[in-house]
Amino acid sequence: MLRPMISAPFDPDLYAAALRFAATAHRGQTVPGTDLPYLCHVVTVAAEVLGALGHEHHGEPDLAVQCALLHDTVEDTAVTVADIRKRFGDAVAEGVAALSKDPALPKAERMVDSLDRIRSQPHEVWLVKLADRIVNLARPPAHWSADKRRAYREEAMRIGERLGEVSPVLSGRLAEKIDAYRAWIEPT
Ligand code: NI
Repeated sequence: MLRPMISAPFDPDLYAAALRFAATAHRGQTVPGTDLPYLCHVVTVAAEVLGALGHEHHGEPDLAVQCALLHDTVEDTAVTVADIRKRFGDAVAEGVAALSKDPALPKAERMVDSLDRIRSQPHEVWLVKLADRIVNLARPPAHWSADKRRAYREEAMRIGERLGEVSPVLSGRLAEKIDAYRAWIEPT
């Protein structure tokens, strides 16, 4: 069989497997505030990661892509880290675990704890957290107070400060979104 002269920067078969797994896990869930399938969020996060991989060298692109597609399965569905480990291996399982907030901690401590755990992971996992917040800095749910929106924006700044160094592309995207999010806080 001929080897392709040019190979994709990531393995499309691994992408497809992770996407199918995420589609099954998130079945029936919607993007908050919309009637769109939750998978829209997941695939948009993966698109941000692929955008970075197109411009920057990261040694394990498949780790980044799989963690992007699976990043909310443990936090938001019945899937466990053990399930991910069995299907996708240790590196992906550890990455998704770090990207999942620990429900045993008080709410106020969960993000700082998750960021600490992400920082102990390969940089490919950091990309996913940056991409997740880029995607989430869209129109906030109507019921969010100005204070909650302000806190969410400030949290995004902390994510950028703690993780942004690994990706000029994503830290630039995040800075743009943080700037634009002001429109949801200050009446124009
Ligand atoms: Ni997410």
